[in-house]
This record gives sequence, C-alpha cells and structure tokens, in this order.
Amino acid sequence: MLPVLISETNESELIIQDLASRLGLDLLIRGEEEKEPQLANDQYYLVRGKKKSHLQIGLKGKQKPILCNFTEWSNNKKKSNLLRCMKGLPSDCSVVDATAGFGRDALELATVSNSVVLIERVPWLHYLLQDGIKNSTEEYVLSLVSKFELIQSDARDFFAIKKNEADVVYLDPMFPNTGSARAKKNIQALRDLSEEDLSEDLLIQALNFAKKRVIVKRHKNSSYLNNQKPSFSIQGRVVRFDVYVVSSSH
Ligand SMILES: C[S@@+](CC[C@H](N)C(=O)[O-])C[C@H]1O[C@@H](n2cnc3c(N)ncnc32)[C@H](O)[C@@H]1O
Repeated sequence: MLPVLISETNESELIIQDLASRLGLDLLIRGEEEKEPQLANDQYYLVRGKKKSHLQIGLKGKQKPILCNFTEWSNNKKKSNLLRCMKGLPSDCSVVDATAGFGRDALELATVSNSVVLIERVPWLHYLLQDGIKNSTEEYVLSLVSKFELIQSDARDFFAIKKNEADVVYLDPMFPNTGSARAKKNIQALRDLSEEDLSEDLLIQALNFAKKRVIVKRHKNSSYLNNQKPSFSIQGRVVRFDVYVVSSSH
C-alpha cells in the first residue's frame, strides 16, 4: 500500500502534481474527496502542509499526525539499549543508518557520534525526513540534525559503490507484526506501507563496510539475521540489538 498525496498549500496544481510523480504517489485534490469513495478510512495520506508535512490515516476527524518529529524525540534523554551498543566508541565516530525510516534511531545515534548518513529507499519517507530536518529549529536539535547526511537509495547500491567510510553501520530491517498489539503509530505505518525485506545480503555488505561495528535491531524472538551469531546482544522488553564487532583487518 502507498499513501495518497494531498496538499494543504496554495501551490499550483502543477507543482503538487510534479511532487506526486517524484514521490510515486497518487494525488487527491482537496475538495474532491467525495468523488473517491474507494479511499476508505484505513487509507494513509501524505499531507503536504503549509509548514510541515505529515502522514495520517483517513481524512475524517482529528488525528495525531505521524511525522519526523526530531524536536519531540530529542527530549527523550533516557539511555537506550541502542546507545549501550555504541559504548566504547569514540564520540567522533561515524555512523551509517542504512534503513533510516523516520530517523528516530538516527537521531539517537547522532548524540554519540560525529556524523550519521541516513539511507532510505522509499521516496516519500525520504521527503518526510527532509521535512523533519527543515522544521528542526531548536539549538540542541539542530546540533544533532546538522550531523545528518540524507541519501535516497537502496543501501545495497550505496554499499556497492562506497568503501569502508564509516565506523558503525546500523540496520533496522522491518519485522512483521507480532501478537495482537499494534506498534507505535509511526512503526505501524512503516509496517503497513513498506515492504518487508529479508536483508541477509545487507548484513554481509554492512560487515564488509563497517570499520568497527554493525548493529542490527531485531524482534526479541527473531532469529539472527542471516543466522549469523553476533559478538553480543542486548535484549529489551520487545527488541534485541545484535552487535557484530568487526576486526580492523579491512
Ligand atoms: C523498521 S524501519 C526503520 C525505522 C528507523 N530505525 C526509525 O528509527 O524510524 C525500516 C526502514 O528501512 C527502509 N529500508 C529497508 N530496506 C532498505 C534498503 N535496502 N535500503 C534502504 N532503505 C531500506 C524501509 O523503507 C523502512 O523505512
């Protein structure tokens, strides 16, 4: 499933049509909702707002927008298991987040590194990441997002042309819905809207690329990616981080 683009700006239809085609999305012109009865309440919309853009489900009623809210996320100062995986690395280390999604984990990684390359292959997610960076204005948030370099690509292509330019590679491939509980809204949106990826080959490429560590986020009940045993794991209530320490021979 893909979201449908809808614009709340005063921009011309031509500009919005161009954006829709660049993002590979259908466009719904405001005011024409009634003509599209098939656009049911479970349809996702990418709403291009005057200041911020966001994702939402359905067009009726007031809902919490789903967006790259770096300002809100930067207020969470709790030491997470992801940051524990970075322990021992110098604060000037470089990171590639090869599966950026909404960039929440990338933001955390920016707190303990010098640079984070965010790779996201889905064009409309890349657009939301750009929008989230553009709307970050507080000094502390800016100090983090200024470490970001955003790339729209399949990480496989990135690894194929670049060589060993980062200390750490982070992989958070999609894991399927588990149990009956729905995930947080933005994670659920990713599950509903993007394709699951087996990512075995991504791990092999990441291990060849990283100079120091590869960190893989998995559901706690999932097997190791590529059945490859990590150097160590850190397990939380739902999620497990598998850490592969890379020997410095390359
Ligand atoms: C589970 S989400 C990541 C969530 C992210 N860690 C966050 O904090 O928001 C996985 C994301 O990786 C992207 N992705 C999966 N495989 C990819 C690949 N080979 N190259 C680039 N992006 C990929 C998907 O489009 C999806 O947005």
